[in-house]
Amino acid sequence: MRDECIDALLTNPDGIYVDGTLGNGGHAAALLERLGARGTLVGFDRDIEAIERVRMRLGTKPGAHVELVHGNYADMAGHLDRLGIGSVDGLLLDLGVSSFQLDVAERGFSFQQDGPLDMRMDQTRGETAADLVNHAGEQELAEIIFRLGEDRDARRIARAIVEARKKAWIGSTLQLAGIVEQAKGGRRGRRTHPATQAFQALRMAVNEELAGIEAVLENMVGRMVKGGRMVVLTFHSLEDRLVKQFFTRHVPREESLPQGGVRRIVEEPPVRWIWKKPLVASEAEQLTNPRARSAKLRAVEVGV
Ligand SMILES: C[S@@+](CC[C@H](N)C(=O)[O-])C[C@H]1O[C@@H](n2cnc3c(N)ncnc32)[C@H](O)[C@@H]1O
Repeated sequence: MRDECIDALLTNPDGIYVDGTLGNGGHAAALLERLGARGTLVGFDRDIEAIERVRMRLGTKPGAHVELVHGNYADMAGHLDRLGIGSVDGLLLDLGVSSFQLDVAERGFSFQQDGPLDMRMDQTRGETAADLVNHAGEQELAEIIFRLGEDRDARRIARAIVEARKKAWIGSTLQLAGIVEQAKGGRRGRRTHPATQAFQALRMAVNEELAGIEAVLENMVGRMVKGGRMVVLTFHSLEDRLVKQFFTRHVPREESLPQGGVRRIVEEPPVRWIWKKPLVASEAEQLTNPRARSAKLRAVEVGV
C-alpha cells in the first residue's frame, strides 16, 4: 500500500513531511521522489541500523532537504523543535518491526532462527526481552501475553516460563519458542507457529509500542498545518483501535441540546477521515507479502 500512503500524505511537494518509521526506507524513497526541491523530509527511526541503511539508500541526490533522526517518535516534537521545524504538512507512521529487524537473527525478534532474546528496536537503551522474561512476575507475564498477544493460553505460558527460568536463564529466541510451544501443547496442525502471539506481545512490551503511538499522535496532531495529513499503517488490532479512537475524538460531532438546537463537540484540532473505512491490501499484495494480510491504512486531514 505504498502508493496509497504517499497519495494520501502528499498535498504540497514543497512542504515538510515526517516519516516516523523509516525502516528500510521504502516509503521515504517513494516520498522523496515526489517532493520538490524546496520540500523537506524528516525521517525517524529508533533503530540506529535503520538510520544508517536509509542514509545509504537515499544518498545525496539533489532535491528535497533530508534530515534523519535516530530517536523515538514518542519524542518527535522535541526533535522537531531542535531542528527549528514548527508545523508539518504530513506525518507517516508504518508501525511495527521492519523486515530487516525480523530477518536478522541477532536482533532476537524471530522464533524461526536462533538468536539472543533481545527484541529492542533501539539497542542502545532499555531492557531486553530476556530481562523481561527472566525477571517479571508470573502475573505480569500472563497479562502482557494476554493483552498484547491476545493469546488465551497466556497463564499457562507464563507459568511455563517461570518454571523454566528456575532451571536456567532464558536467553535465546529458540529456547523461549520451545517453552511456549510446549506450554501450548505443540503445533497440532496450526498454520502459524504457537509462539507467534507471545513473541509479538513481548516485543510490544519491550518497546512500549502502544504508549509510543499514543504519544506521537497526541504531540503531532496540533503541529500539522491546516489541511495537513496524518497517515498510519497498523498491523495489529490494538494498534488500529488506538489510532481509530484517537482520531474519532477529533472528528467533529453534534449533540442535541435539551432546550433545542445542537452543540458541536470536538477535541481540537478537528480532523476529517480521508476514507470512511480503513484501506486494506489487495489480494495480490496479500499473496506476495504475508505481512500485508493484517495491514490497515487510516488517514486524516487536520484542521478542517
Ligand atoms: C514497518 S517498519 C517501517 C518500514 C518502512 N516504512 C519502509 O518502507 O521500509 C517500522 C520501523 O519503525 C521503527 N519504529 C518502531 N517504533 C518506533 C518508535 N517508537 N520510534 C521510532 N521508530 C520506531 C522500527 O525500528 C522499524 O524500523
